[in-house]
Amino acid sequence: MKVILADTAGFCFGVKRAVDMVYGENEKGEKKVYTYGPIIHNEQVVSDLEKKGVVAINDIAELDSLPKGTIIIRSHGVSEDVYDKLVNSGFEVVDATCPFVKKIHKAVNEYSKKGYEIIITGNANHPEVCGIVGWGDKAHITVISDAKEAEALNFPKGTNVCVVSQTTFNHKKFQDLVEIVDKKEYNMFVLNTICNATEERQREAASISSNVDAMIVIGGRNSSNTQKLFEICKKECENTYYIQTLEDLNIRDTGSIGIVGITAGASTPNNIIEEVQKYVRNEL
Ligand code: F3S
Repeated sequence: MKVILADTAGFCFGVKRAVDMVYGENEKGEKKVYTYGPIIHNEQVVSDLEKKGVVAINDIAELDSLPKGTIIIRSHGVSEDVYDKLVNSGFEVVDATCPFVKKIHKAVNEYSKKGYEIIITGNANHPEVCGIVGWGDKAHITVISDAKEAEALNFPKGTNVCVVSQTTFNHKKFQDLVEIVDKKEYNMFVLNTICNATEERQREAASISSNVDAMIVIGGRNSSNTQKLFEICKKECENTYYIQTLEDLNIRDTGSIGIVGITAGASTPNNIIEEVQKYVRNEL
């Protein structure tokens, strides 16, 4: 069977870097390794790390009762307050914050110090956004996620305003919200901090699925970015399968299939993608 595997299938750069850092630190075997929150939303990876002795903590207070070791900050990043507490905890800190997220922390910190109002487009409850908020003056940071919230901004005309975005926010929505804010006649500085990884993965999935006889989308059932990938592929290729692992794969009517496309959500580990790819190539 001919297989087209998407280059963008699976982990984005920032998540791959963070997961590699956890495995790397653990393999050194020098210190007990902890992650601040699960390193990734993928059960297989988290349980594999658990088996290897890596412990995910959810609160800094937990560190008080744990043997000293290395604590790893995940790709979403953390607030300045949490960062400082971790640094002062007596644990060695390995910062796996995605460099694209770090860039937002720096901008928020800088413009906050200059006295700007900071506007973040994104989901206020997402850990990445909670972290970003924590790098500026909270009293002068507003998170907006839709046109209504953008319309409701009521700083005086001429106010210095810096607009940044959660990395996974939708491009079009960002532009629309910036347009609304722009009409308010602020002195606006816009930093488009949206990461292209998701968009590129979706674009490639659409292009591959429009040229194959069957398309396989691999990812967790609750992963919203995998669901979105599935929808995109299904539109282009009726014969699209959504699987979590190889065990779920049940391709019908293989006789009429010549080319199979494969893509995977952002938190799907490489070994699962490889396994599916090998099976389709050699066994179907
Ligand atoms: Fe991934 Fe970093 Fe972009 S974590 S989605 S490469 S911002």
